[in-house]
Amino acid sequence: MNIVVVGAQWGDEGKGKVIDVLSEDADILIRFQGGHNAGHTVVADGEEFIFHLIPSGLLHKGKVGLIGNGVVIDPEALLEEMGRLASRGVDVQRCVKISDQAHVIFPYHKRLDLVEEATRPGRLGTTGRGIGPCYVDKSARSGIRMADLCNRETFAEKLRQNVIEKNRWLKALYNEPPCSYEELLERYSGYAKRLAPHVVNGTRFLRAAMQQGKRLLFEGAQGTLLDVDHGTYPYVTSSSATAGGACTGAGIPPTRIDRVIGIVKAYTTRVGEGPFPTEFPSALMDVIRAKGKEFGATTGRPRRCGWFDAVIARHAVWVNGCDSIAVTKLDVLDEMETIQVCVGYHDPSASKAAGGAGGTGAIDEFPSDTSVLARCQPVYESLPGWRQDTSEVGRFEELPEAAKRYLKRLEVLLGVSICLISTGSKREQAFKVGSIGSAA
Ligand code: GDP
Ligand code: IMO
Ligand code: MG
Repeated sequence: MNIVVVGAQWGDEGKGKVIDVLSEDADILIRFQGGHNAGHTVVADGEEFIFHLIPSGLLHKGKVGLIGNGVVIDPEALLEEMGRLASRGVDVQRCVKISDQAHVIFPYHKRLDLVEEATRPGRLGTTGRGIGPCYVDKSARSGIRMADLCNRETFAEKLRQNVIEKNRWLKALYNEPPCSYEELLERYSGYAKRLAPHVVNGTRFLRAAMQQGKRLLFEGAQGTLLDVDHGTYPYVTSSSATAGGACTGAGIPPTRIDRVIGIVKAYTTRVGEGPFPTEFPSALMDVIRAKGKEFGATTGRPRRCGWFDAVIARHAVWVNGCDSIAVTKLDVLDEMETIQVCVGYHDPSASKAAGGAGGTGAIDEFPSDTSVLARCQPVYESLPGWRQDTSEVGRFEELPEAAKRYLKRLEVLLGVSICLISTGSKREQAFKVGSIGSAA
């Protein structure tokens, strides 16, 4: 069984936690896009671990993790993460594999990311990790891949060309000082030596694993609404964070994916700029941010929080082809008296333009034009809260009735069943469910 797990909102849905739980039943864990802009948290045996580039299931013994070709790798960040994992007793020498086709992030990518953010008319709120500029080079066909990095001659030549080009940009567009070719060549050659033993032909590696009957678990980073095509463009990341990205970003055929699981929080969050129709007013924002500890796992930035938005989640269920969803952070809503769910939007300009000629401005589909989403007002349905602690609940049947009603309503609104519920950050605070009822 090969399973793809993706975020079905704007990232930070709890992918790390869910992947850790699902990893028990998998052999090979694969990241297929994004880079160290991701921060996936696992809390195991009372200790927190944040994964950035390495698949989140590796705290389990005997698993192997592949960083796929669709990922962009900052070698310094990766080596640091490997070091931290090793100090937790994980045999990183054995279990971390890296695709030779993955692209490499250099300091000039990071510098370009930062100066572009500082000078573009509308900020995107990127993580400043050089992710976008590295994917630009990949698409422009000037990028440097892991295979190049590990080949001294190819690397020296490709780096020379890149440094000449990037120094031109930095000077002409931003009046920034140049990067040193010699310094980069030396530093990155050192990284290459340390990473080379982990580098494999990713496609071949996964094909062999499948032929041996190994179970694969693909871990999306970011989320559907941050996908470069299907998200709230341009307020997105630069990769394909949807399920299709698992095929291109790992080199496996679409026909070999058996299941897709989307992850949603019981409410919604987003970091960075861009439209967010259900964003809370500030008083409620403070309450949920504190209770849900909604601060970025990578940058520490406070996350924007809002009610569950069924319109965006339904869009995510469709574009990913989700067979089921996992709902996390239900416990964060434990104290709410009333819970709102956004079931549609109202577009005030559309109803005005229609002038009463039949157009009401009612929208129930995700608008692909981000400027429409930006002016949409949420239409809410109110449900009673449960005002009970759910953090110790171990079975669906033990949940308070109002919590069950809330989850069943989400199933109906999304047209998909829930397969897992999480009520706390710890590994034990999650339980699998079959279909819990009402979805078709
Ligand atoms: P990811 O990027 O999707 O892996 O999510 P992050 O790790 O960035 O953010 C999720 C945060 O919520 C982390 O701090 C997790 O430890 C925490 N978390 C995950 N599931 C739950 C849950 O069910 N309840 C609570 N209270 N926290 C959770
Ligand atoms: P995980 O995997 C939440 C957001 C940034 C910014 C936009 C573009 O932990 O869910 P980038 O640096 O990628 O060019 O920034 O994407 N972003 C994330 N938001 N979770 C993430 O990852 C994110 N990775 C990028 O905040 O709005
Ligand atoms: Mg995160």
